[in-house]
Amino acid sequence: MSRRRNCDKPIECRINKILSVSPHTIPDDEIQAAAALLRAGKTVAFPTETVYGLGADASNPFAVQNIFEIKGRPNYHPLIVHIAAASQLSAWAQNIPDAAWQLAAAFWPGPLTLILQRSSQVPNEVTGGQDTVGLRVPDHPVATALLRAFGGGIAAPSANRFGQLSPTTAQHVHDKMGSKVGMILDGGPCRIGVESTIVSLMHGQAVLLRPGGLSVEAIEDTLNEKILLAQPAAFKVRASGMLDSHYAPATPIEIHPADELWHRAHQLVELGYKVAVLNLSDVNKYVDSGGITSFQLPQLADEYGRELYATLHRIDHASFDRILAEAPPTTQEWLAINDRMQRAAQGTANKNKFLS
Ligand code: TXA
Ligand code: MG
Repeated sequence: MSRRRNCDKPIECRINKILSVSPHTIPDDEIQAAAALLRAGKTVAFPTETVYGLGADASNPFAVQNIFEIKGRPNYHPLIVHIAAASQLSAWAQNIPDAAWQLAAAFWPGPLTLILQRSSQVPNEVTGGQDTVGLRVPDHPVATALLRAFGGGIAAPSANRFGQLSPTTAQHVHDKMGSKVGMILDGGPCRIGVESTIVSLMHGQAVLLRPGGLSVEAIEDTLNEKILLAQPAAFKVRASGMLDSHYAPATPIEIHPADELWHRAHQLVELGYKVAVLNLSDVNKYVDSGGITSFQLPQLADEYGRELYATLHRIDHASFDRILAEAPPTTQEWLAINDRMQRAAQGTANKNKFLS
């Protein structure tokens, strides 16, 4: 996926109400109220360009604990610390390699998380007790305004329950955890829709831990070196996004090549299933018929990524029994999407043993 700049369309910013504002006139009162909640150790859900985050004061272990409780996530899984600008890196990390400064200069604000050696001020609760910390500067005017008003780092995982789909609208957050979050800032739908790319710069080597909104090629071009794509077992243990079954809709999902999708859909309908087909090809190829509803997704990776989670949220709401997704292309720009689809489908693969 490519990198894009801030959109300058009007956005909405909501705190128990919806206000239409431009990125340049974000209501200061509301941002100050959100920052005050963070200072008081409460949680605030906020938009980023990738997905919505569930934020808390990264320097307050008790505040951070709230995140784990609301998410239902094991508290040894580390959190990303969001900062307002690269100039704050040194407060959170130490022995920062040149590569980090280069990547920060090239891609922040943007969908890139860097894993660096933590500084002594980072609480164990944020890092899961590891000696590393994940840092990123998000590229969304509401996130930027919040970070500036707050002044410190905001620890924020995606604002979803552990293992479930990430939210790409404020409504998704509200549906899943609305009553538990101190405040939800509504900045409209996320423009990338897939989580950030995570790169570790530990041990003098760039390692891709999670493909995401920033392409691997863009990072390699900037560093002028290849990134290691393998995910060492050491990283797997404590990075929840690396669990084989993750980013999953509630509805079981299977992925099939285009020419097998239709046959499989009919097979399931005969078993009495209500099937949602996620197709990329010509919309007319799959006519909605008894038991089958097709959801057309865009053929460009960027646009597909922006719509994927929102479409899966919609399908979850409509009580289908099974999602059949047409396998996306396997070119580089589809890397993050294929990664998320494979993980989403992992749990279903096990259940399918009973069907086949
Ligand atoms: O786009 C994003 O990255 C969004 C927005 C809100 O910024 N955040 C996000 O956070 O996706 P989360 O926690 O849902 O996923 C972050 C991933 C997790 O798999 C976590 O384990 C991993 O990053 N992670 C965080 N700190 C790490 C560290 N020090 N070492 C290895 N993995 C780390
Ligand atoms: Mg997540």
